Formats: sequence, structure tokens, C-alpha cells
Amino acid sequence: MRFLASLSLAALALTSFTAFAQTPTAPKAPAAPKAHLAPPLVAQTPPMGWNSWNFFAERVTDKDIRAAADQLVSTGMKDAGYIYVNIDDTWEAERDATGLLHTNSKFPDMKALADYVHSKGLKIGIYSGPGTKTCGGFTASLGHEEQDAKMYAAWGIDYLKYDLCSFIPDVMQKQAPNDKAAQMRLMIAAYDKMGKALKSTGRPIVYSLCQYGWDSPWEWAPALGGNSWRSTGDITPEWDRIYTILSQQEGLEKYAGPGHWNDPDMLEVGNGKLNLAENRAHFSMWAMLASPLLAGNDLTSMKPEIKAILTNRDVIAIDQDKLGKQAFRAYSDGEVEVWARHLSGGAMAVAVLNAGSDRQATHPFHLNLAKLGLHGAQKGKDLWTGKDVELTESMPIELDSHDVLLVRIATPK
Ligand code: GLA
Repeated sequence: MRFLASLSLAALALTSFTAFAQTPTAPKAPAAPKAHLAPPLVAQTPPMGWNSWNFFAERVTDKDIRAAADQLVSTGMKDAGYIYVNIDDTWEAERDATGLLHTNSKFPDMKALADYVHSKGLKIGIYSGPGTKTCGGFTASLGHEEQDAKMYAAWGIDYLKYDLCSFIPDVMQKQAPNDKAAQMRLMIAAYDKMGKALKSTGRPIVYSLCQYGWDSPWEWAPALGGNSWRSTGDITPEWDRIYTILSQQEGLEKYAGPGHWNDPDMLEVGNGKLNLAENRAHFSMWAMLASPLLAGNDLTSMKPEIKAILTNRDVIAIDQDKLGKQAFRAYSDGEVEVWARHLSGGAMAVAVLNAGSDRQATHPFHLNLAKLGLHGAQKGKDLWTGKDVELTESMPIELDSHDVLLVRIATPK
């Protein structure tokens, strides 16, 4: 499944690997950082920002990252909370004789890029993995975990996505060919190793585990310093994939909280052929899930209606609620699902999602408040129209296929 997908992706990218020459300006060996103080807490609310992969994939360059940083500021996304600018895979070249990893020609000077992103009041993220190669077939961190962590800290990196990929054949299958349990222990040890390496730099770096939800990372990732862990395989900009991922989150709500979050993968809002209802529903549900909100679209060509979705402050406030309680699926009725989330100050968010394609707005759905533990009429705000609404027992709700009603109830009764 995910593993096979990674391998084919890796094979594909390996063919273009040599296209990016090693940069002539080798980074200087970073000075050893002082690790006398515990780093400040990170990810107390789900990390928000932008990541290059979903739109640019292996084509991303230094210029694209700078442009994304510029756009985060000029579009108002930074002010809405999008702070991390994350470079995904394909920035890496080879190691030199000292083991120091160099950047390739697409990223001539990582320190200068980090300085640029920081100068905008933003933070910068990077990508690697515990194997010899990344998913794209580029150099990863096996055997160089501490050295890489120190280099990230010296560059000023604020976020690391650490992707399993070639660790599967390199280590898990090689060292424990017929023993799944032993393979999983090796995987966990590898994530622990990088967690410790990051911690020993003394720099606050968000640690984002990407191993597709294998072996229930929500049970062990927080203990080794993971601030988020992918809870599924890769997202694509298609409703069916988005809905499959959403369905897999049911029951995981008890594992999320300040500093440690389930990650159902980065946003596809504005990508592919998702229509407006689908973009709105995807964003609403990821906010309900207290997911990291990492936009993945091309910000330089973002349409106003996509910007309006990504910068909806009321919806972002659901995601960023300081209580950090992820939504649960309260009930479903055929293809319509009702999710609820408890918010700080006793407030509540309710999402009614018409997930399927069979029921149209012409056939209203009747809300059951009692199933949400609510009694009688509830005053709330519709977060997509911005208007006040009153939710009443059995009220008819007309929702188009793949659309959502998202309501915040300040004082639920
Ligand atoms: C994996 C990850 C993706 C992306 C690519 C990069 O598939 O799950 O999010 O980082 O690798 O190669």
C-alpha cells in the first residue's frame, strides 16, 4: 500500500536525482549548540503554515519557498496564523567526507533562505527521514541523525518532517525480515533517535512524524517528543481520498492535545479539481480534527474564494482552540455525518457533513440535537455565512453533496 507507493515514487525520483547538482557553496560545519536549557514548548496548538509538496512536489526551489513566504504575508495568511514555511523533499544533495549533507542546486544557500523566511516573521521547516534515502530518492539521515539535527539548528530550522520511506527496506526488512513486531520496534527506535537528536540541539523544533500511521503512532509518538504524527497514507486532491482519511480519524480524538496532534496530512484546499463545497468541507473537517493546517496550494496563483476559505478566522479558531480537544463523530445517518468538538469556555462546534454523492440539498437532513447531548434550541453562528443561526430539534438542513454546515455554539444547553 503506502510502502509500494513510496517505492514507486522513489524509483521515479531517483531517475531525476542527478539533475540537481551539488551546490558549490558548501555549508560551514555548524558550531555545537548549547543544550543547557529545555527548549520552549512548541505546537501548543496545531502547527499552521504551508508546505511545498502537494503542489510543487519535486520541482520546488529556493525561489518558490521565498515566494510562498512573501505570499503568506501579502495575502494575510500570516496574520491568520500560517507561520511555518515548510520545504518538503528534494532539497538534498550528497554528504561530503565529514558526513555533512549538502544542499542541491535548487537550494544554493539554506541558511540565507532560513534568514529570509525569518525576516518575514515566519518560521521554516525542512524534511528528512530515518533511512538512507527519502521518499523521493534523495539523501536521508541514517547514521547521521545528530549531525543533521545540529545542521538544522545551525541553519535556524523550526520544524522537521521525518518520513519513514527507505528505512523500511534499508533496516526493517533487512534486520528483521520475517518479524513484523521487531520491524516496528526498529521503526520506533529510529524516531526516538531523531527526537533525542533534535532535543539535544536545544532549539525548539516541531517534530513531525511521517510514517503513514503504521503501528498506531498516537500511542507512542508523544513519549518520544513527536509533536504530530501522520495518521494515514498520503492525501490527494480528490474528495474520495479526503473522505477516506476523515473516516480513519474516528476514535483517535483521545490521543490529541496541546503539543501532540494527529496529522491526517496536509491540506489540498485549492488543489486539483476540488469544488468550492469540497474545499470548504475539507478545511472545516481538518479544523474539527485539530489537525495541523498546512496549506499545500500555489499561493502565487490563489483565487480569492480559496483565500477566503483558508483565512476564515472563525474556522481557524476551531482548529486552534486552546483546549486542544479533537472532534468526535457523534452520529451518522446514511451519508450524512455529524461531528462535534468541545471548545474552551464551554463552547461547542458542530459540523454536519453531506459526505456522499447521493443526497442532494433538495432532500433535507433532519438534525438530532439529543444525540449531541443538547436539549432545545441552540443559538450559534454559521461559520461559513457568518450569520447567527438557531439549531432546533429535527430542523431540516439542506446540504449539497460534499458540503458542510459548521456552527459554533457559544453556550450549549
Ligand atoms: C511521502 C510523504 C509525502 C511527501 C513525499 C515526499 O510520500 O508522505 O507527504 O513528503 O513523501 O517524497
